[in-house]
Amino acid sequence: MNKPPLLEALGLNVCYGASHVLRGVDFRVAPGETVSVLGRNGMGKTTLLRTLMGLVAPKSGEIRLGGVSIVGWRASAIARAGVGFVPEGRGIFPNLTVEENLVFAARPGANGRRDWTREALFDLFPRLAERRGAWGDQLSGGEQQMLTIGRALMSNPSLLLVDEATEGLAPLARDDIWRTLGLIAGRGVAIVIVDKNLDDLKALCRRHVILVKGQIVFEGTADGLVAQDEFVRSQLGL
Ligand SMILES: Nc1ncnc2c1ncn2[C@@H]1O[C@H](COP(=O)(O)OP(=O)(O)O)[C@@H](O)[C@H]1O
Ligand SMILES: [Mg+2]
Repeated sequence: MNKPPLLEALGLNVCYGASHVLRGVDFRVAPGETVSVLGRNGMGKTTLLRTLMGLVAPKSGEIRLGGVSIVGWRASAIARAGVGFVPEGRGIFPNLTVEENLVFAARPGANGRRDWTREALFDLFPRLAERRGAWGDQLSGGEQQMLTIGRALMSNPSLLLVDEATEGLAPLARDDIWRTLGLIAGRGVAIVIVDKNLDDLKALCRRHVILVKGQIVFEGTADGLVAQDEFVRSQLGL
């Protein structure tokens, strides 16, 4: 018996004006599952995450979280229902300290879960603990990204949507992000991640999806990606 999905999107269509950006996307995430969304630039990855988060309204289709339809819900309500979002390009508060950025985001999760306290966060991100008094705009790119992930965790999500978190970071900072995401997944948080680093995604994620022009052209395990290596590389432009 498969577990019922935590998140389920069916027949999602999204348009920006006349351009049809997601075309009949079916997408599921089981509780605690890690799923990568791959694809070249402009294929609709960010749009998919923003639609799941309630930041873009689908033209048609259904989205259920824990079996409840969330189409038309505000992003803030979807966040309260257990979805954390780490957007492309970060977005921390520059004029708050690290600690303030985290405290302002703190909130029990759906079902009153409080797994991610400030202390648990600082255990996970020792660097943020050292920098707890620093202002947001004094942080390095890697530290800002850690803070963005930390802030999303402070709402105790059951699902974390992560968009290009390692983009533009130095190799060591990237490694740190991958290690941290692995620890978060190890605590049972489901993760949907968009990224370009195929090897890191294979190591983190149980399932992989490739989007081409708003349609899913591949869905499978890391073994499946390897088995269809030539097709995968051509779709990703590698
Ligand atoms: N706010 C918007 N208004 C109009 N077109 C958009 C907007 N956001 C994205 N697009 C277009 O939608 C397509 C998918 O974009 P996006 O979801 O950002 O792709 P990806 O994250 O895969 O690079 C692209 O053609 C992009 O130009
Ligand atoms: Mg994008």
